[in-house]
Amino acid sequence: MKRTRIVELLNSSNLGETVCAKGWVRTRRGNKNIAFIALNDGSTINNIQIVVDLSCFDEEFLKPVTTGACIGVTGLLVESQGQGQNTEIQAQEIEVYGAADPSVYPLQKKGHSLEFLREIAYLRPRTNTFGAIFRLRHHLAFAIHEYFNKQGFYYFHTPLITGSDAEGAGSMFQVTTLDMNHPPKTAEGKIDYSQDFFGHATNLTVSGQLEGELGAMALGGVYTFGPTFRAENSNTPRHLAEFWMIEPEVAFYEIDDNMDLAEDFLKYLIRYALENCRDDLEFLCKMYDNELIDRLNFVINNDFVRLTYTEGVEILEKSGQSFEFPVYWGADLQSEHERYLVEKHFKRPVILTDYPKEIKSFYMKQNEDGKTVRGMDVLFPKIGEIIGGSQREESYEKLMKRIDELNMSTECLWWYLDTRKFGTAPHSGFGLGFERLILFVTGMANIRDVIPFPRTPNNAEF
Ligand code: 4AD
Ligand code: MG
Repeated sequence: MKRTRIVELLNSSNLGETVCAKGWVRTRRGNKNIAFIALNDGSTINNIQIVVDLSCFDEEFLKPVTTGACIGVTGLLVESQGQGQNTEIQAQEIEVYGAADPSVYPLQKKGHSLEFLREIAYLRPRTNTFGAIFRLRHHLAFAIHEYFNKQGFYYFHTPLITGSDAEGAGSMFQVTTLDMNHPPKTAEGKIDYSQDFFGHATNLTVSGQLEGELGAMALGGVYTFGPTFRAENSNTPRHLAEFWMIEPEVAFYEIDDNMDLAEDFLKYLIRYALENCRDDLEFLCKMYDNELIDRLNFVINNDFVRLTYTEGVEILEKSGQSFEFPVYWGADLQSEHERYLVEKHFKRPVILTDYPKEIKSFYMKQNEDGKTVRGMDVLFPKIGEIIGGSQREESYEKLMKRIDELNMSTECLWWYLDTRKFGTAPHSGFGLGFERLILFVTGMANIRDVIPFPRTPNNAEF
């Protein structure tokens, strides 16, 4: 018989119908005469209750039906006697697909710590918590495509293997097929990358922006949505070595248009989650973060504060707060500074603009003052920076001057610089860290808990 997803069975009004459900046993309880099996198939946080009249089943046959086992059940869909669910199934036939020996299956009880579950990341999708998080992740990914599609932006696929360092931060993973033990050498004794697969040195991308800009200069508005890689050794609850980023890039956008887009985009996504993932959000709110749903509603219902970096630093200097990292004009803001502005001072999301050029990337549009660039960071409660972006420098001369100041090589960037020679235009864009968004929307505290298989220093086993 064809299987129906549990989410549909729980909302069905076809009582008395024979149905088939398949899933994993969350719990089994009962007595000598009757067993109650809570079954989950990942389609919803809620389980369907299977009622088993033990006089109709062989005891030995039902023995493997324990927590974690996979079964298929055919039976009558009836109104539930229990509280908190509409329907349940009176089992007529049970098929056991796979047992999960209770003496070794790690997910026996409820309420395992998140740290423990991280160690068994290959099984944690089967818990309520991670089911909720990964469903939310899916819905938000879908909402991102929906948003841009409605706005007339094109999904532009940028390469993962690249010869350039978009952020100039130098924390890249190298990609090579050379024999690491015996690499070919040049006359000067350096590794000879001309013999490597691509004929030159390559890395995994840290951002699709530079290629995204090429797309924007032809298609008008584009966005990327893909994995990015950073080999920075920052063991924090907000950094991954492999994370997903969404990077819209738009021709003719100035910095204010960019800020409007970022604010509208974030609000759209949060509203989407509230409207489409209610059960999962309510579960996370109850279990991990009582203020979660209020916080999400607050963000969609209030304007973000917009101010310059210089104004932000003045507020921090006058705050009388003692920070771990000192604040002064020119300092790169740390998460503690960002969160002070958002959580203590303004009590709402903040967009900071016009940063000192020294702490931002080479491609940002230079302001008249010669000191600041038209960068923008969106700062969120509990997260700090969720979006980083800017208006781009469209003048070839100014961009080259900055590249020279920074002693950057143009060898790998000639194609990017050509956009400024051929039909250059004002344009802007930003990058939203997908996992930081999921952190905010789920209320989780550690970024390792919002991606199925986190990649962090010393951790890439499964
Ligand atoms: O501020 P970032 O480095 O900006 C860029 O990469 C630009 N090229 C974006 C653009 O203008 N198109 O990164 C953008 C966002 C950050 O605000 C943060 O949310 C996220 O990416 N991010 C990380 N998320 C998880 N782990 C890391 N190691 C991250 N580094 C950045
Ligand atoms: Mg940034």
